Amino acid sequence: MNKQALEDIAQAMLADGQGILAADESTGTIKKRFDSIDTVSTEESRRDYREMLFRATQAMQENISGVILYDETIRQKAADGTPLTQLMVEAGAVPGIKVDTGAKDLAGHAGEMVTEGLDGLRERLAEYHDLGARFAKWRAVLNITDTNPSAACLTANTHALARYAALCQEAGIVPIVEPEVIMDGGHSVERCYEVTSAALTALYEQLDNQGVHLEGSILKPNMIVSGTTNANQAGIDQVAEMTLDCFHKCVPTAVPGIVFLSGGQSDELATAHLDAMNKIGNLPWKLSFSYGRALQAAPLKAWGGKAENVPAAQAAFAHRAKMNGLATLGQWDASLEG
Ligand code: 13P
Repeated sequence: MNKQALEDIAQAMLADGQGILAADESTGTIKKRFDSIDTVSTEESRRDYREMLFRATQAMQENISGVILYDETIRQKAADGTPLTQLMVEAGAVPGIKVDTGAKDLAGHAGEMVTEGLDGLRERLAEYHDLGARFAKWRAVLNITDTNPSAACLTANTHALARYAALCQEAGIVPIVEPEVIMDGGHSVERCYEVTSAALTALYEQLDNQGVHLEGSILKPNMIVSGTTNANQAGIDQVAEMTLDCFHKCVPTAVPGIVFLSGGQSDELATAHLDAMNKIGNLPWKLSFSYGRALQAAPLKAWGGKAENVPAAQAAFAHRAKMNGLATLGQWDASLEG
């Protein structure tokens, strides 16, 4: 393992005022997104949409440090034949790749999932490295009920995350480890805190067991928020304080950066929460974003599947990227949303 090379990649991904664009929707998920704008999902329309994002020069150069791709996209070329990965490299963003093969039902545990994809992963990582990937993502899915996630679910998922992370580092690829505690449900913010703490504690035990070099890894967590159907929604300051309190207790200071998922939060709330945490500051890790929906909802809608809307879609993307870039510095304000 070349520790210095891994640390250098992680630092580039955590550049000041920048964050990660999660554009790694599976074919099934991107179809759902395209359905919402009445656009047929084909290999070409998916390429056109993502090319539009990666050619949004202002957003990509100023506020995006890395892009998570799906297997199809890392192999695709722009309409003019330029590899899509080259577009992001030219804009100064690191190409990354989603390598898990999805969350499947966990045997014997109704309502719980385990993320798969370890079989053949060493070989796939070598190929992705050849294709230009310098970081990867693996997402575990943890649903909250009064009794779930079970210990079995936490152990299975965090063990897989650690095996994945070790294989990534062997291949010269920085692992983003993502134990996503899902927002859906009627649970309280305190219950989200409890489950997220348990997940992060289990994760860092497993990463330690597998000898993962934390300085060459990045955490992608949920924020500590109230369940979506809980009547008592925690406010922005409470979310920020509880999230930071949880991380101070559970995330080793050797971890260089934490990049949040948006998880179904509205665009502006995802920005406001990140900003509130960075305004508190005094943190041992960089705190940034790795948003999918909270970066793409606005440009997706503006694009609407039409080539003539590309400039408007790129402007919408640039705005969200800029707002989130400011939030990584604790310099966002609602008045900037216009
Ligand atoms: P969202 O920001 O839409 O939650 O997606 C981030 C992601 O990559 C989930 O794995």
